[in-house]
Amino acid sequence: MPTNALTIAVPKGRVTKALAPLLERAGIDPSPILADDRRLIRESADGSLRFFLLKPDDVPTYVEYGTAELGISGRDVLNERGYDLYQPVDLGVGKCRLVVAGRAGQAIPPVPRVATKYPKSAMQHFAARGIQAEVIYVQGSVELAPIVGLADLIVDLVESGATLRDNGLVELETIAQISSVLVANPSLYKLRHDEVAPLIAKLRDAVASGK
Ligand code: PRP
Repeated sequence: MPTNALTIAVPKGRVTKALAPLLERAGIDPSPILADDRRLIRESADGSLRFFLLKPDDVPTYVEYGTAELGISGRDVLNERGYDLYQPVDLGVGKCRLVVAGRAGQAIPPVPRVATKYPKSAMQHFAARGIQAEVIYVQGSVELAPIVGLADLIVDLVESGATLRDNGLVELETIAQISSVLVANPSLYKLRHDEVAPLIAKLRDAVASGK
């Protein structure tokens, strides 16, 4: 689909609504990404911007391959995979943390089984502590794993803490603070600098003015 519009890959889901006020402060109308329909490509009214609506995990991929100049990605995804991307602005939304959690008072075996959507981050965390963990990959509802005996521990995101609490789990250790980050394709950043740089500056100002 040939276009001159700058493309921003945005995550569908929780973060979308949190992004809206930030985009507005940056002078970007958020209504195309908030529209409640199934279109995966949305355009700004003046056609200068295009948005791809993606699963959060896929945002960096579209930017890394240059199908989008910019993207909005969680630090959890960036830390887990390691992409060749610029990260010019921490957007300060979608704030949560990656933690180790388990059942309250439960003894942890010497080689714990750890269920997670973040195998690399989990492996690195335990290896840095000299603990040999058996990491079990699951895609979601991670909190179920220690309750039913699939795992001793989980490594997962915590925002309000409600999911841990409602499932009788407690946070044991924080691995990383997470938020949404603006990412840019390095080559396109240079190639379209005159268009991309002002947009990044507007988003940086919008973050600062929201603090
Ligand atoms: C995320 C995360 C936790 C939950 C944390 O899951 O994996 O389960 O949110 O949020 P809380 O601390 O505010 O309760 P999500 O809702 O995205 O669904 P998933 O379990 O299918 O990954």
